[in-house]
Amino acid sequence: MMFRNSSLLRRAVRQVSILRYNSTIAPLDSSRLTIEKTKQPKQKLPNDKLVFGRTFTDHMLEVEWTKENGWAAPKITPYHNLSLDPSTIVFHYAFELFEGMKAYKDKNGDIRTFRGDKNMIRMNKSADRIALPTFNGEELQKLIDQLLLLDKDFVPEGKGYSLYLRPTLIGTTASLGVSTPDKALLYVIASPVGPYYSSGFKPVSLEATDYAVRAWPGGVGDKKLGANYAPCVKPQLEAAQRGFHQNLWLFGEEGFITEVGTMNVFFAFQNEDGTKELVTAPLDGTILEGVTRDSILELCKERLPADEWTISERKYTIHEVEERAKKGQLIEAFGAGTAAVVSPINHIGFRNRDINVPVALGTSGELTAQVAEWIRKIQYGEEEYKNWSRVAK
Ligand SMILES: Cc1ncc(COP(=O)(O)O)c(C=O)c1O
Repeated sequence: MMFRNSSLLRRAVRQVSILRYNSTIAPLDSSRLTIEKTKQPKQKLPNDKLVFGRTFTDHMLEVEWTKENGWAAPKITPYHNLSLDPSTIVFHYAFELFEGMKAYKDKNGDIRTFRGDKNMIRMNKSADRIALPTFNGEELQKLIDQLLLLDKDFVPEGKGYSLYLRPTLIGTTASLGVSTPDKALLYVIASPVGPYYSSGFKPVSLEATDYAVRAWPGGVGDKKLGANYAPCVKPQLEAAQRGFHQNLWLFGEEGFITEVGTMNVFFAFQNEDGTKELVTAPLDGTILEGVTRDSILELCKERLPADEWTISERKYTIHEVEERAKKGQLIEAFGAGTAAVVSPINHIGFRNRDINVPVALGTSGELTAQVAEWIRKIQYGEEEYKNWSRVAK
């Protein structure tokens, strides 16, 4: 091959070296999966003994990553302890992120996940934010499908029952230096869980919290980092001591409403002209990009009559909620997340004042019950909606 001049030659050499460099950095590749089945299958618990996140299935998925070689061959092996050097970077500087998603058994016995592609996108955003490696989300979904097929018998049957999936990514460099991890471990464990509300909805009472802040502009509240969760436990305990179930997280002097506990939050208002508005906070960097939130927004925009309802992602404050409750314009409110789908709210305490939130159906508002049912039907494959429910194959 002849090169017309030396700059072309230089460009060709650069191309070859880029190709050679990339070929050694392996992408996450589900076709390299190896499976070692357990020789000691665990006893499966009856549905009424399931406690969230306490027991796990027979197997787990693991994929190691190194800066030098990229993603290693994925492995499914019997569920086991991890062995890590005490200096490992995850223990000291919180190089950890996770996802929370669920698998459901449909009436044919097939196992389905709900909008896992959204979890993969969010997981990659979290990874990128703390300098951990990113990966092809579809490949991780294929690997999760294989774990689900292997541990299929652990997916409990029945309305509200599911297998909670916890994809996790940690930095595993053994060093106390605060720097970019050059080793990481991606793993997925799975826990059979029962319905959040075993006997119908139980509405919750919230403390509007302004002395502790969950997330702030320029921070990482929109990422699913383990480091976001530990600091929220003490304010929750304090709220519980004062008789509230959860914190309604406020931000700023204005008292903007952001989230509730570990859920996104929605309020429904009646307008003076008789129309209604469903409101949730916008994704401004302080709000976790909830999959349930997104699903509720989309279904409500599509299914609620447009001449009656406005669906808004806008900033709103505890003062607006208090004002509108006083005027009788607060219709209902609910938290939204994978664990419960929706969690009805019946009371908010704010600076020693009470805001009572109507629950028209006794334990929830009408819209709260309606969206819960819309989403449940798609999750359990009773209704096919777009590509939101994926059957593990
Ligand atoms: C802080 C926070 N907000 C909102 C959510 C709801 O997100 P999703 O609907 O994706 O479960 C969660 C739960 O994952 C959360 O931890």
